[in-house]
Amino acid sequence: MNWRLAAAVAACLSLAPALAGTSPFGQHPLTVQARDAFVSDLLTRMTNDEKIGQLRLISVGPDNPKSAIRDMIKQGQVGAIFNTVTRQDIRAMQDQVMALSRLKIPLFFAYDVVHGQRTIFPISLGLASTFNLDTASIVGRVSAYEAADDGLNMTWAPMVDVSRDPRWGRVSEGFGEDTFLSSAMGQALVTSMQGKSPAERYSVMTSVKHFAAYGAVEGGREYNTVDMSPQRLFNDYMPPYKAALDAGSGGVMVALNSVNGTPSTADSWLLKDLLRDQWGFTGITISDHGAIKELIKHGVARDPEDAVRVALNAGINMSMSDEYYSKYLPGLLKSGAVSQQALDDATRHVLNVKYDMGLFNDPYSHLGPRESDPAETNAESRLHREAARQVARESLVLLKNRLNTLPLKKSGTIAVIGPLADSKRDMMGSWSAAGVAEQSVTVLQGIKNALGEQATVRYARGANVTDDQGIVAFLNQYEPAVTIDKRTPQAMLDEAVKTASQSDVIVAVVGEAQGMAHEASSRTDISLPASQQALIAALKKTGKPLVLVLMNGRPLTLVKEDQQADALLETWFAGTEGGNAIADVLFGDYNPSGKLPMSFPRSVGQIPVYYSHLSTGRPYNADKPNKYTSRYFDQVNAPLYPFGYGLSYTTFSVSPVRMSAPSMDKQGSVTASVTVTNTGKREGATAVQLYLQDVTASMSRPVKMLRGFKKVALKPGEATTVSFPIDVNALSFWNARMQHAAEPGAFNVYIGLDSARVQQGEFTLK
Ligand code: BGC
Repeated sequence: MNWRLAAAVAACLSLAPALAGTSPFGQHPLTVQARDAFVSDLLTRMTNDEKIGQLRLISVGPDNPKSAIRDMIKQGQVGAIFNTVTRQDIRAMQDQVMALSRLKIPLFFAYDVVHGQRTIFPISLGLASTFNLDTASIVGRVSAYEAADDGLNMTWAPMVDVSRDPRWGRVSEGFGEDTFLSSAMGQALVTSMQGKSPAERYSVMTSVKHFAAYGAVEGGREYNTVDMSPQRLFNDYMPPYKAALDAGSGGVMVALNSVNGTPSTADSWLLKDLLRDQWGFTGITISDHGAIKELIKHGVARDPEDAVRVALNAGINMSMSDEYYSKYLPGLLKSGAVSQQALDDATRHVLNVKYDMGLFNDPYSHLGPRESDPAETNAESRLHREAARQVARESLVLLKNRLNTLPLKKSGTIAVIGPLADSKRDMMGSWSAAGVAEQSVTVLQGIKNALGEQATVRYARGANVTDDQGIVAFLNQYEPAVTIDKRTPQAMLDEAVKTASQSDVIVAVVGEAQGMAHEASSRTDISLPASQQALIAALKKTGKPLVLVLMNGRPLTLVKEDQQADALLETWFAGTEGGNAIADVLFGDYNPSGKLPMSFPRSVGQIPVYYSHLSTGRPYNADKPNKYTSRYFDQVNAPLYPFGYGLSYTTFSVSPVRMSAPSMDKQGSVTASVTVTNTGKREGATAVQLYLQDVTASMSRPVKMLRGFKKVALKPGEATTVSFPIDVNALSFWNARMQHAAEPGAFNVYIGLDSARVQQGEFTLK
């Protein structure tokens, strides 16, 4: 981290105490005891209607205009607001609470701050590619700072849904296919966003989502069913939620899907037995958008009233964006279908988190004094560009670099081509919070910034993102996200080929529009759209060196592109400073170190393809091929690019694994070490990865499972020892009887720079 970045982050870290405004409730210590006493007392003073009001989370919009919200506030009919993101608007609503409502219970304000608030960082899949928890903490800290600076108290993040299906558009929002990496990233974000306490002026409370296992929807089709063994659920899908909660996340957003037949929103085992009783969660559960209504279509509630009964009794505290709780809870209480106790419990959880946010000490705790409100909400001075550029550079993954095509020289003529090369909106990715597209830097602009007068840049769009009218209409349904060129596709291609022919090298920026990797954006075909494939084929024919810069929110099938391109750089959606960061890597001002958090399949037919699959009875062995083994006869089993993979402008070697001891017992530990050497000519960093395999157990275990990673930076010729301590936690799993334990026996240790090429060691658990 350079000093300017360090200063920016330090500014965010200086956690000024909440400014004590005038609170109708006086001042109370932020302890659990004081909170419980305070909330118990407040509950005795509330009517049932006021309690029900606290359970309602409302979005200001066409269905709920400001005037309607004002009335709700006056009647005590709303507990929290989401999707309002300016201090002026938030302050106005909190003012109404203080002036108009009987009890003056402050609202809290929430938003989807998934990868930045105003400064947009790379999408979460890109953040996962950094394999660097310090970097994740910078994102968390800056995002929380900017969110709190906008008056927000809560974020619907982190999203830690493990997913092994790139057809699902929401893989863009999570940390990929791996349980350990997702857990570590989620934990780092919770810790950095909540800071010492969500009541701090520049912290926000997190709400981990989507509980549970949303990433495993069948066929990768959005909102679809999840059905899996309890072992897989608990070994692979649950740990990231648990890790985020152990880190103190105050909220949990409940998933829209069912798991093994029960919609999560209706699942009292999930929300009570597991979450509260076993895991000890004391925060708040929130339904996802419209999820309570959807219980009728799921087929587990007869009608709206029944849906409310089911959801509240299952353990949904707060209802997002529907009027059902306020409409039906009064009747359900009267009939006894919902008990007073159940209503009080749900209300208590809402009041508890408000207390934890410091709102009863100061309803304006995340607003500060009125005079401090920014005159210009979107002011450039409110952004943290240095941090965004630093994180974005680190998220880029170099997939191919034939004959050192990259880095490019800062001279001659460079053709920058492609439908995404100059797209500000796409650079930010989906869920870009309060980010302003105009403030983001495209690849074209980034390249121009890097070159100044040193080289000539020629630009041609070359193709539309897609020529499929149906897909264009889909992408433009809610925002004018994708523009279609007035020229014919052939005219665009001709211009691109001409531009390329007059240049020394082609940088083609291709991939997905951000809306293709979003909620409700599942695909059956994850190749580049035909228009872009045609563009690449035409550019290839020019014979010029071809660098493909990929922008996309999921693994794509890239077999053909891998053959066509001289260099391939995966950039995800890199955020506000994406273009500058990408130029840093293209011209070698920064040496790439990103690694893939998800396997890239060769074809959709391979899905799911993930590195940590279970052992089978007939594994395929490429050295001794045998028909009756687990394989496809028309394609290899391995993905095109494996989990953990990514190149650098330098090279590294990894020594054989050294074990500190041949065995350990359950109370002890062993340490696995390797020497990593920079064997190339440039300084560079790489993520060293530790995988374990339980060789023989009471049930089949994964062939490899990530259990550690460490980013190391080395000068040319420099070597360092990387050590990973291993204890019983790294070896334990949920067995066939659903007991969590480590089983004695042999373990393989694999250490490498990706999941496929590793050095091997072993030890025994006694
Ligand atoms: C999404 C959530 C999101 C919520 C509020 C829902 O459609 O599934 O992830 O937090 O909307 O924006």
